[in-house]
Amino acid sequence: MITKERVLEVLRDVKDPEINRSLVELNMIRDIEIVGDKVSLLVVLTISGCPLRAKIEQDVTEALKKLGAKEVELRMGSMTDEERAALSAQLRGGQAAKAATGQMQPLNPILSKESPTRFIAITSGKGGVGKSTVTVNLAVALARLGKKVGIIDADIYGFSVPDMMNIEQRPTVIGEVILPIEQFGVKVMSMGFFVEDNSPIIWRGPMLGKMLRNFFSEVHWGEDLDYMILDLPPGTGDMALDVHTMIPQSKEIVVTTPHATAAFVAARAGAMAIRTGHELLGVVENMSWYEAKDGSKEYVFGRGGGAKLAEQLATELLAQVPLGQPDNHPAEPDYSPSVYKEQSPIGQIYRELAERVIAKCESTVSK
Ligand SMILES: Nc1ncnc2c1ncn2[C@@H]1O[C@H](COP(=O)(O)OP(=O)(O)O)[C@@H](O)[C@H]1O
Ligand SMILES: [Mg+2]
Repeated sequence: MITKERVLEVLRDVKDPEINRSLVELNMIRDIEIVGDKVSLLVVLTISGCPLRAKIEQDVTEALKKLGAKEVELRMGSMTDEERAALSAQLRGGQAAKAATGQMQPLNPILSKESPTRFIAITSGKGGVGKSTVTVNLAVALARLGKKVGIIDADIYGFSVPDMMNIEQRPTVIGEVILPIEQFGVKVMSMGFFVEDNSPIIWRGPMLGKMLRNFFSEVHWGEDLDYMILDLPPGTGDMALDVHTMIPQSKEIVVTTPHATAAFVAARAGAMAIRTGHELLGVVENMSWYEAKDGSKEYVFGRGGGAKLAEQLATELLAQVPLGQPDNHPAEPDYSPSVYKEQSPIGQIYRELAERVIAKCESTVSK
């Protein structure tokens, strides 16, 4: 027989896909009525235009059918402002809300000492060397290896991660909490989500710092991430310095092209990492060569910059990525302009890079 308790029991396993917590725990399941094998109930969404409404409806219906319900009637509602505020506080680990419900673990602030998340900042001396491309593909490669990964697109003026990963939706905001967008198994937060029509933004210094801080404190990153990859602004400006000081535990990867001048400029970014106490994981040389049809390599941007930079910074050359566009087509269901396919030659190079990063980060006792 279907009972209210059993309905709650099976729905306890159905999660809100964005918040990644049980619908029951989030108090989103209400007014359960059971007549014979017909179940009707109210699902209270966080916001009325919830983009994942269809998914939630489907998951709830499926769970109830499995329980034996012949007929399922779902009514969809949305939270009141007060309820949203309470949930928002709950997600942020607000003491009052937590005490009130007594059932939810507080959000583990990602920057706290207890957080298991490893931060890796991707930095470069100048723009255009492939910092964002490396960020996105390293993150996706780590996720393909089973890691829980996030990206913070901290290149506030030059944000490009949403476009590169083909993210078109905007994050849901619940009260004061922002939910990141998941794409290719990676949770993404970017300044680009908050800018209309790609219009230029004129943030002043203090606002920038605040925005970035919010990406850590007001974003619900969900279950503990293994890795957070940061796409830093190029160079050694204020913004870059801000990030360095905000996340002292961060490790860094410096991206350069093989050109001697590029490597020279990148050395400054590397030097700043060292000065701010960040451990350098190594150097990624991008656009290393172009492989012609006959398999011969042309060193279009010169040669040796990555190795030289690694030597100067007393670190290692982690990867050399040749020139090549991802073999992706807009008609494909999971199209993106910049993510290399797993089995493609460059996709494999990124997998090896991810494996080296994991080996370096997880083999030592230090985080
Ligand atoms: N290995 C590569 N082969 C071909 N094009 C690349 C490669 N790496 C990056 N690009 C392209 O070069 C441009 C700059 O890369 P991007 O990642 O945006 O650099 P940055 O973030 O350092 O400014 C982009 O158009 C990107 O698609
Ligand atoms: Mg970039």
